[in-house]
Amino acid sequence: MVDAVNYSEFETLRGGRRVEIRALRPADRTGLAAAVARSSSESLYRRFLSVKRNFTESEIDFFLNIDFINHVALVAVVEENGRAAIAGGARYVVVQPGTAEMAFAVVDEYQGQGIGALLMRHLAAIATRAGLRTLIAEVLPDNMPMLKVFEKSGFPRSVRHEAQVVHVSLDLPEPTSQE
Ligand SMILES: CC(C)(COP(=O)(O)OP(=O)(O)OC[C@H]1O[C@@H](n2cnc3c(N)ncnc32)[C@H](O)[C@@H]1OP(=O)(O)O)[C@@H](O)C(=O)NCCC(=O)NCCS
Repeated sequence: MVDAVNYSEFETLRGGRRVEIRALRPADRTGLAAAVARSSSESLYRRFLSVKRNFTESEIDFFLNIDFINHVALVAVVEENGRAAIAGGARYVVVQPGTAEMAFAVVDEYQGQGIGALLMRHLAAIATRAGLRTLIAEVLPDNMPMLKVFEKSGFPRSVRHEAQVVHVSLDLPEPTSQE
């Protein structure tokens, strides 16, 4: 069983920059708010499927109070001028036994460097070890970067198009006995 609450892995981005993919912590409240503040309205719209920049306290609590069983959240942390900054995040929420809905967001200036793909890989690894079999997501039809991340994940996937939204479903492998 993966210790998701203490999850931490270091990776190197395409440009050579180091990034830590780690579990979101309650102390990330300020860092998360800073990441939202520097995200474009288009990115926030694509993440929340609505115009969203201000959040209520209870919404913020939902984003920060993670049980790491039914709700798992990872952040991608980079160093900026000697200080840690949240460049992106991904989470899943279990919606029925064996199935979780996932969502991603990467700060605009860090998009296209592979952070989304890394978050996908680590989130799927945690989900697989937790025994989940399916990860689902709702994506706007023109959100090519997100659809590309799902395609490149390598997991068998099904894609269902509706007028306003694309439903993506990824099949996870069975966990190996060591996990
Ligand atoms: C979707 C998102 C999380 C992806 O994160 P990212 O760090 O930019 O993703 P990556 O860099 O790992 O990969 C993005 C891929 O999309 C590709 N891409 C980018 N723009 C594209 C476009 N307009 N058309 C086709 N592909 C595109 C990139 O080339 C890259 O593929 P590559 O690895 O083959 O080069 C990020 O763009 C984001 O936060 N968007 C706003 C919020 C959002 O859409 N959330 C999804 C809600 S579930």
